[in-house]
Amino acid sequence: MKPSLALAVGALAAVILPAAAIAADAPPGALSCSGCHSPHATDTSTPPRLIGRDPAKMVAALQEFRTGQRAATIMDRVVKGFTPDEIQAIAAWYGAQK
Ligand code: HEC
Repeated sequence: MKPSLALAVGALAAVILPAAAIAADAPPGALSCSGCHSPHATDTSTPPRLIGRDPAKMVAALQEFRTGQRAATIMDRVVKGFTPDEIQAIAAWYGAQK
């Protein structure tokens, strides 16, 4: 392997590995949320981060999006892609992240 290629592979691994470590135990679908919701525990961005939030409140919010009780621009459509069991698993997983 040429030194330049080895360096490139090393740099790539450094970028990919932290994300892989977070993803290892994530339930199906959980990582799709972080395309919009920040994956960083300290962010105060909009839409709000999911990490470390109370799972029961997350499930309740998602249930309200599903039924239309709660106004949404996009979450009403996102939540319809998941079963109630998947939502439970995703909320529990995010609640346990730090
Ligand atoms: C395409 C972007 C997008 C994706 C993907 C997405 N969200 Fe959202 N989320 C939003 C937006 C925008 C809001 C604000 C409500 C709205 O306008 O729909 C929101 C709001 C929420 C809220 C309510 C937060 C609060 O405190 O008001 C929860 C909970 C939530 N999302 C969970 C999730 C979960 C869980 C996933 C993955 C299954 C997910 N979201 C995927 C964009 C997204």
